Amino acid sequence: MPSDKSIAHRALLFNAMATGSAQITLRRPGADVLSTVQVLSDLGVVAGMEKTDGSVTVTVRGGGTTDAARLAGGGGERMDCGNSGTTMRLLCGALAGRAGTTAAGPAGEAVEASGPRAAELYGDTSLSSRPMERVAGPLRAMGADVATTDGHAPVRVGGHRPLRSMHHALPVASAQVVSAISLAALAAEGTTTIDTPAETRDHTERLLAWLGADVRREGRRTSIKGPARMQARSLTVPGDISSAAAWLVAAALHPDAELRLLDVSLNPSRLAIVDVLREMGTDIKVEAQEALPGGSSPEPVGDLVVRTATTLRPISLGGDRVAPLIDELPLIAVAMAAANGVSELRDAGELRVKESDRIAQVVRHLVAMGVNAEELPDGWRVTGGRRARLVPLPVGTGGDHRIGIAFAIAALSGLTGEALVDDPACIDVSYPGFWEDLEAVSDQTMAGAAR
Ligand code: S3P
Repeated sequence: MPSDKSIAHRALLFNAMATGSAQITLRRPGADVLSTVQVLSDLGVVAGMEKTDGSVTVTVRGGGTTDAARLAGGGGERMDCGNSGTTMRLLCGALAGRAGTTAAGPAGEAVEASGPRAAELYGDTSLSSRPMERVAGPLRAMGADVATTDGHAPVRVGGHRPLRSMHHALPVASAQVVSAISLAALAAEGTTTIDTPAETRDHTERLLAWLGADVRREGRRTSIKGPARMQARSLTVPGDISSAAAWLVAAALHPDAELRLLDVSLNPSRLAIVDVLREMGTDIKVEAQEALPGGSSPEPVGDLVVRTATTLRPISLGGDRVAPLIDELPLIAVAMAAANGVSELRDAGELRVKESDRIAQVVRHLVAMGVNAEELPDGWRVTGGRRARLVPLPVGTGGDHRIGIAFAIAALSGLTGEALVDDPACIDVSYPGFWEDLEAVSDQTMAGAAR
C-alpha cells in the first residue's frame, strides 16, 4: 500500500518544525503528500530527496519549534497546496505560530527585528471551494493573523503575532482542524484544549508526543502545552488503510478471494472500516507486527488478511461512528449495494465538503448502476442485493480520487458493467499505482471488466 497520507503529511511538517534533521521514507507518495513536500521546499526546509524502488526518502531540516527560524525564512510567499486540504489546513496552524528574528531594543529588551513575510496558500478548483474558516476562526481567536477569501482559499497567514492558549469546542469532528490548532498551540504559552463532537484520527497527537512535545489525547479532548520544543526523528511511514480499504471491499465482494495487505498502519482510530466490514459478514484478520521496520514508530503497523464474505449483511451507520470512517464511506456504499437488504448512512454531512460532494456523487453513480439508492441530506439509503445493470457505467469523478476508486471496485466486483472512469489520473492524489494493483489482484475476466 502507498504510505498513509495523513501520517506522511504530519511526519514531514512536524519534523520541519522540530530541531535537527530527519529522513521520512514514503512508499509511492501521492500527489497530496508531494504538495506538502513542495511547500516545505518553498520554505527552505527540505534538504534532499532520494528515490529508490517506488519509495522516496525526504530529508527535512527544521529550525526548532518556538524559534522556527527555518519555517520563518525562505521564500514561499505563495504556496501551492494542489488538491490537498490537509496540506493547507495544517500549514495554516504551523505558519500562524512561526516567529520572526529578535534583536535587543533600547532598554535591552527583546524586540522583533524581522518578521516572516505573509504567506498566501492557494489550491486547485476543488480545494478552493472547501471551507477554510473552520481553521482560520479558531486561529484568529488565538491571536493569529489569518484571513480567508470569503471563507475559502487563498488563505493569507500573516507575520508572527504572539499566540494565546485557549479552550476550543469545535462544531465539526475534523482531525485537520484539531491538528491546525494544535500546531499553533505549540507556540502559545500555556495549555490549549480542543474538544470535538466525535473522536477523530489521532496521528497528530501521537507524532507530536513522539517528537517530544507535551501533547495528549483523552477521548474527544486534545491538550497541548506550549511553548514546545521538539527533536526531529526519522520515520518510515506505514501503508494507508484508506487505500487498503479498496481491496478489503473487493475481496469481501468477490466469490472466492483471499488477500494479504502488507505493512498497513493499524492505528486504532482508523480501524473502523475493519469493524464495519466484519459486521457486514467479512472475515478480516489483523496481524500486528511486534518489531517495526526502521525501528521505533509512533504508529502500530501490521498486515490485514481478508477473505470473501459468504453473505453480505446490510448495515446502518450514523452518530459517532461516521468520523472514523469518513474517507472509506464511498467504498462502504459499494459494499452496501452488494449487501442483502436496506443499508443507511446518516450524520455524514461532512461528505459534501470533501474533494467533491461525495453524497451526491455516490448516489448518482449507484442509481446509474440500477441500484435503488436515495440521497439524504446527511447520507444515503441503499437497497442492495439485486442484480444491478451490467452495462458500461460512465464514472464522472469530479476529480475526486475516492469516487474513482470506489466505482472501479464496483466494476471489478461485477456489480456493474465496465466502469469508464473519466479521469483515471485523479487517483494519483492518494494512490499512485492503483490501476496496476487492480490488474495484479484481478483474474482475467475481472481485469477485462474493470479496464
Ligand atoms: C484527514 C482528516 C480527514 C480526512 C482527510 C485527511 C487528516 O478530514 O477526510 O482525508 O489527515 O487529518 P477531516 O478531519 O477534515 O474530516
